Amino acid sequence: KRVAIFLSGGGSNMRALVEDMTGDHPARPCVIVSNVADAGGIAWAKARGIATEVVDHKPFQGDRAAFEAELSSRLAAHAPDIICLAGFMRKLTAGFTDAWAGRMINIHPSLLPFYKGLHTHARALEAGDKVHGCTVHEVTAALDDGPILGQARVPVLAGDTADDLAKRVLVQEHRLYPAVLRRFAAGDRSLLTLDS
Ligand code: GRF
Repeated sequence: KRVAIFLSGGGSNMRALVEDMTGDHPARPCVIVSNVADAGGIAWAKARGIATEVVDHKPFQGDRAAFEAELSSRLAAHAPDIICLAGFMRKLTAGFTDAWAGRMINIHPSLLPFYKGLHTHARALEAGDKVHGCTVHEVTAALDDGPILGQARVPVLAGDTADDLAKRVLVQEHRLYPAVLRRFAAGDRSLLTLDS
């Protein structure tokens, strides 16, 4: 299977996925895509000799369909079978998510269905939660809402700041996402639960 990974930032999840796609893994990275030209993940992929595509969303000025049309045409050359969103900070319309239904997954830093959207760690702390974590799910038109493929839990500790919690969750993201992609690429959509 050929995997495209979309990112907007440092790409630590992309790096975890790429580093796991070796040996008998049923997938290999075919392109790293970003909406941000100087995203750390793009430089890292280039240095590794992995194809990259940068599609800046700003020239499209909120015309999401036009941005996605450009994304799709730039993607076509790499012929991905699966898209992994990994810290990709642009909402995708139903036009794009429908076209990739069943072939696009995302990692979100909360135990969905709780805390969809942003600032998940601060919200979990604010709520006084004792358990938090991350989720890999299939991407649908509704934000952070598709079928759940995997979850990993972490404890919330006394005195945790949002940053402490984010760091603890990120460690689990780097375990969970590669484990789920291995299964997903092999056609296994059963729920994976990891406990740290
Ligand atoms: C991570 O918390 C991930 O859950 C979210 O984006 C953050 C940054 O990810 N989707 P990365 O380091 O760029 O992979």
